Amino acid sequence: MPEPYCGRSYVERCSIQGTSWTHPQTLAGKGFDMIQITLSNGLRRFMPARWLVAIVVLFVLMAGFVRHSAGLGIAGLIRDLNGLSPFYAADAPWITGIMFLHMFTGAVLTLQAPLQLVGAIRRRSRRFHRWNGRAMIIFGLFTGFGGIVYATLRGTTGGLFMDISSTSYGILIFIAAVQTYRLARAKKWKQHERWGWRLSVLVISSWLYRMHYVIWDRLTGGWGVTPDMTGPFDRFQAWGYFLGYLLLLEIYFIYAQSRKKRGLARG
Ligand code: HEM
Repeated sequence: MPEPYCGRSYVERCSIQGTSWTHPQTLAGKGFDMIQITLSNGLRRFMPARWLVAIVVLFVLMAGFVRHSAGLGIAGLIRDLNGLSPFYAADAPWITGIMFLHMFTGAVLTLQAPLQLVGAIRRRSRRFHRWNGRAMIIFGLFTGFGGIVYATLRGTTGGLFMDISSTSYGILIFIAAVQTYRLARAKKWKQHERWGWRLSVLVISSWLYRMHYVIWDRLTGGWGVTPDMTGPFDRFQAWGYFLGYLLLLEIYFIYAQSRKKRGLARG
């Protein structure tokens, strides 16, 4: 239909005539936009949040290790694994008990750590963040302690080199757990958050350590890996798996801080 023309714009003409007339193209545009907005809002409601997708993917990837760790931990605590596991020593029941309990608490800790980092969970339920955090501190202290007891009193597969790296890893977990808790009690939230990240990254490093071996084996067929864990790759891994990720985290902290400063300076 040809549009009536009175020498002015369509909107003007509309008000002249006193009707709620709108140019069909404008109307079509608005209607389409409205449908788009309504649809995307509707879809967004049913689409899982990105953090939820990330957590599910991470848990699926970690499932094998968590099952192995919790399963072996429980088996060592309730069954006689003499000759079945190198970590089981019937002549040292206390160290054996602590070591297998360490595997179980470590498995729980591995599931707790990512949940503690998600801002959306923290905002939705402060209560969950607090209780999960407290449990993480206790499990973290115990897991670190168990590993240190085993490494220093019985010795690791990789000998003195790995005894020292494992003990250092345990001490770092210990420090991170204490600092995270202490700074939360002191309500120093920024520092608390940073130490919380350090604790979680250290915890997740235990799973990453195993992942490195899996990936390395696929890539190189296990070059530099020996049964007594003294090969070049084993040596690199002994320190690299936790110090490497801690270093990356510190670099990220510096980068985030300088970005914030630049943003503030720009106003
Ligand atoms: C954070 C989560 C942790 C989990 C889930 C975990 C789990 C395990 C498991 C399952 C083993 C048996 C080896 C295997 O089957 O792979 C093990 C061994 C060991 N863990 Fe942990 N662990 C954790 C943290 C730590 C920490 C913080 C230390 C610190 C000292 C530590 C020190 C050790 C040592 C020394 C061994 C014996 C290694 C060997 O001699 O081959 N672990 N751990």
